[in-house]
Amino acid sequence: MKNVLLIVTGSIAAYKAADLAHGFRKAGFNVNVIMTRNAAFFINPITFETLTGNKCVMDTFDRDFDFEVEHISLAKAADLCMVAPASADIIGKIANGIADDMASTTIMAVKCPKLIAPAMNTAMYENPIVQDNMKKLKSYGYEIIEPARGLLACGDEGKGKLPPVEELIECGLRHIGHIKDMAGKRVLITAGPTAERIDPVRFITNHSSGKMGYALADAAADRGAYVTLVSGRTALKAPLGVDRVDVFSASEMAEEVFKRQKDTDIFIFAAAVADFRPAEISKSKIKKKDGETPVIHLERTVDILETVGLKRTEKQYICGFAMETEDLIENAAKKLKKKNADMICANSLRDEGAGFISDTNRITLIKKDGNRELPFLSKRELSDLIFDEIVSDISQRTGVSS
Ligand code: CTP
Repeated sequence: MKNVLLIVTGSIAAYKAADLAHGFRKAGFNVNVIMTRNAAFFINPITFETLTGNKCVMDTFDRDFDFEVEHISLAKAADLCMVAPASADIIGKIANGIADDMASTTIMAVKCPKLIAPAMNTAMYENPIVQDNMKKLKSYGYEIIEPARGLLACGDEGKGKLPPVEELIECGLRHIGHIKDMAGKRVLITAGPTAERIDPVRFITNHSSGKMGYALADAAADRGAYVTLVSGRTALKAPLGVDRVDVFSASEMAEEVFKRQKDTDIFIFAAAVADFRPAEISKSKIKKKDGETPVIHLERTVDILETVGLKRTEKQYICGFAMETEDLIENAAKKLKKKNADMICANSLRDEGAGFISDTNRITLIKKDGNRELPFLSKRELSDLIFDEIVSDISQRTGVSS
């Protein structure tokens, strides 16, 4: 379970931090809260302790601790640190290296992503000293979550409100995970290359690294899906919580996919499946003979995606991939139709930084109702965009908004 460290400082918006702590907890994170002494004028630590199940830490010199230096252990364990609401005071302290209480000493030791959500009176927020401090924090890699505009507690109208809790959680999830919008969905992903045996020592394969399929499996698992990854030979480790089934050839991959066809909600065919295989596999190693060059006769393999597409139900969702060197969009659109899929992720082998081996990719989503070009991103980031599209398509079908 990932750890969120929430630092609450003295601002009237501190009461909203209770919902924030609860929201991160509901999203599946362990939440530790540190409050400054001034925050305790606005909200009671017991509220956070009840909501998070963890001690709410306030005083660096608290005697009631496990034998660990508490601010360091909390800082080390954190996968995300969010200061919300962040007062002008804490912003100033961090920006100027002041560490004189539990909150400021902990932040100083944190190495994970740090998000600051300022909330204060507009005049304070616009004060050039506060603005300079925020600029400085940005330059050190802190992310500043812009405050919202509106009627402030002091009666002024302007910028300085803490943004809605859902937005803050979304900002946090961008760094450490995702809302569980695929909870309970059974996702099957094919990944990597297949290898087609010629004889006991030789086979025909391709350059697929499996990175795209593994990134998709990781993304789906993060969003709460049950993921089966039917994988050809790769050096990659299965993402945590994913059920990996290792296969060698196209026919083994087909068998593992067909077995699970009825029990799958979403299929993603990211594998580079061989289109041809040797018509006969030699039982013994083919030896070279003087003056003879052996000829290998090939035959077609089963098209796994097309076979699943033929027998699909309306409720199932099918996403395929197309890797082309020419006429990317037209060829991918033809595959969408022929294979009865809902979406094809088209990538061109001609794009730099895209394709088999790289960690990045450039993808255009091809669907019946139009195409959408995704930005050039890492395969893991693209995976989330692909699932955003799928989740939205499925919720439109069922009329349920996600
Ligand atoms: N696919 C599959 N089974 C196969 C071949 C391909 O499931 N035997 C899937 C791939 O995983 C991918 C999509 O089909 O999702 C690719 O379609 P395909 O027509 O095979 O693309 P190419 O191999 O590029 O085909 P062509 O050589 O005709 O361009």
